[in-house]
Amino acid sequence: MGKLSVFLFVLSFYTIVNAGSGSHSLWAHATYISGETPFPEFMVVVMLDDVQVGYYDAINKQTVFKDKTEDDEAQDAAYVFGDIYQGMKDRSLELNHHFNLTEGFQVQQRWTGCEMFDNGEPALAMLKNIFNGIYEDYAVYYNITHYKYNAGKILPGWDGITQAYKRTLCENVYFPICIKSLKRFLKRDKHFVMRKVPPRLRLIKKEVSGGLQVSCLAFGFYPRHINLTLLRDGQPVAEQELTGGEVLPSGDGTYQLRKSLEVSTEELKKRHNYTCTASHLSLDDKLDVRLKSGLKRVHLSTLLNLLVMLLIGILLGILGIFICVKRRWRCTASMSKLANFEANVPEEINMSSDSET
Ligand SMILES: *[C@@H]1O[C@H](CO)[C@@H](O)[C@H](O)[C@H]1NC(C)=O
Ligand SMILES: *[C@@H]1O[C@H](CO)[C@@H](O)[C@H](O)[C@H]1NC(C)=O
Ligand SMILES: *[C@@H]1O[C@H](CO)[C@@H](O)[C@H](O)[C@H]1NC(C)=O
Ligand SMILES: *[C@@H]1O[C@H](CO)[C@@H](O)[C@H](O)[C@H]1NC(C)=O
Repeated sequence: MGKLSVFLFVLSFYTIVNAGSGSHSLWAHATYISGETPFPEFMVVVMLDDVQVGYYDAINKQTVFKDKTEDDEAQDAAYVFGDIYQGMKDRSLELNHHFNLTEGFQVQQRWTGCEMFDNGEPALAMLKNIFNGIYEDYAVYYNITHYKYNAGKILPGWDGITQAYKRTLCENVYFPICIKSLKRFLKRDKHFVMRKVPPRLRLIKKEVSGGLQVSCLAFGFYPRHINLTLLRDGQPVAEQELTGGEVLPSGDGTYQLRKSLEVSTEELKKRHNYTCTASHLSLDDKLDVRLKSGLKRVHLSTLLNLLVMLLIGILLGILGIFICVKRRWRCTASMSKLANFEANVPEEINMSSDSET
């Protein structure tokens, strides 16, 4: 499927994961491309929580599911995706006309799906549109008690009759179909979506100008929710003193999180004790690793750190290529950023690989 779709997927993934309050979600990430590209005009990636369970494109016009599915489910999917396809195609004509776009290719993205609470109660349905990665187009939000339609800022919004019709469609057709599918997928993929993999924990010291950087790294865990705290002499370090803190996919179905603290040379003299502690669904107790001050430094560039760097490097690379394709003039800037990043791969000092679980 190539780099564009990987990029689009990565982009949409970050946007969606924290979207709602539900415990399980089913999202369709649809992409419509107008203009000449090697990609299908229209494609959909179906995600159950953070696991891809289906794929549809305009070339094959049928949904490929990760697991065996019932006939009526395939029919539902073909109906819904066919409808999204047509809707995005029409929208694309209007948008291209609005912006007077006649050359190159234009990308329209739509995220639509639903979320459900643990007890099986429907939580919400949502639809969001983005044009060419920057313009927010119209959006719809529905959570049983409230229905919200945001016309966006690009084109004139729906009139009253269209709004009422779309609302009925959302409440009575799409939402029920989505929740029904979500329950089915959940039943089938329980072993994967509900698995619990405990984090591994490391505390890493790295010399930086003006002192040390102490990083707390948790990796290899699932699900993605984790509480990771860096303690100084037993007291949690305030979040605003820390950098990082974004949970990232590791590419193997697990997640990783890093939080770093800059410790000045002044501060180092106080010989504080640093501890990294994690709590996660898979753990009965908290997991701790300690960094003792004054230990002799061991230079150790772990395989994991290299992998993390490699992964981020690849992502930046994809981003760079995408930007190059899209906007020639930004090519140089993004590529030099990438080179700069690679030159900075640190030689890390790992003090606690022995205390890792
Ligand atoms: C649209 O673009 C074409 C070519 O770039 C130009 O000739 C034309 O005047 C533009 N039309 C509008 C309405 O801006
Ligand atoms: C639905 O959303 C509205 C507005 O955001 C909120 O006030 C309400 O509590 C929500 N209802 C449910 C059931 O979550
Ligand atoms: C750090 O820990 C060591 C031993 O665990 C202890 O002796 C020392 O007092 C601690 N230092 C601080 C500043 O709390
Ligand atoms: C993280 O901390 C919050 C607040 O203390 C708690 O509600 C939540 O359950 C914790 N999450 C995990 C995964 O331990």
